[in-house]
Amino acid sequence: YVMIKIAPSILSADFACLKHDIEVVECGGADILHVDVMDGHFVPNLTLGPPVVKAIKKYTKLPLDVHLMMTNPDAFIEQFAQSGANYLTVHVEVCHHLHRTIQEIKKHGMKAGVSLNPATSLSLIDSILGDVDLILIMSVNPGFGGQQFIPFSLPKIRQLRQTLDQLHLPHVEIEVDGGISLENIREIVQAGATILVAGSTVFQAADPAAMVQQLKAACEM
Ligand code: DX5
Ligand code: ZN
Repeated sequence: YVMIKIAPSILSADFACLKHDIEVVECGGADILHVDVMDGHFVPNLTLGPPVVKAIKKYTKLPLDVHLMMTNPDAFIEQFAQSGANYLTVHVEVCHHLHRTIQEIKKHGMKAGVSLNPATSLSLIDSILGDVDLILIMSVNPGFGGQQFIPFSLPKIRQLRQTLDQLHLPHVEIEVDGGISLENIREIVQAGATILVAGSTVFQAADPAAMVQQLKAACEM
């Protein structure tokens, strides 16, 4: 039995009311808080950095899952650790020394994740599977909330689940990020995902707390 976790992405929250919006989804039963860091280089958008992570850490008990969409993640590992990140995920497309980066993240006491863009092959992470705590499959091209789920993500998730099973690595989380809704969440879980990120689906709902509950229920049906 695998525990399925819902991770609301604060990218779609109201940045002027982050404390309130986080309390709402925490009360609604969110398992993890997904925090999108964008640098304007790796992705065509800018969001937030360590000071904001540090600020929200004071107000929530939820694990902070920091998704680094930036070209130089190594330079910020220490700052994110000090700010209270629990998971730190880097993109394989920008890491020239991925093994070193993953070890650095773990040395700083965080869980280490590696993320792949939709067009990036799973083969690029073959040699690192035994070292990571989490693999983040992007199901949209990163940069913005509210995009459409790319259907090819499903066979990619299935293939990764099969590989992790073959390697006896059941504890490695498969996180999926982008375009997740009440309509598609169940098949994403069935494909093998264990952490489901949802931004616009949660924060644009009339009742975000209820939406977290509904997403959980949809996984179990
Ligand atoms: C996209 C971000 C996502 C984003 C997802 O680049 O990595 O975490 O918040 O938003 P939705 O769920 O609206 O697709
Ligand atoms: Zn994300």
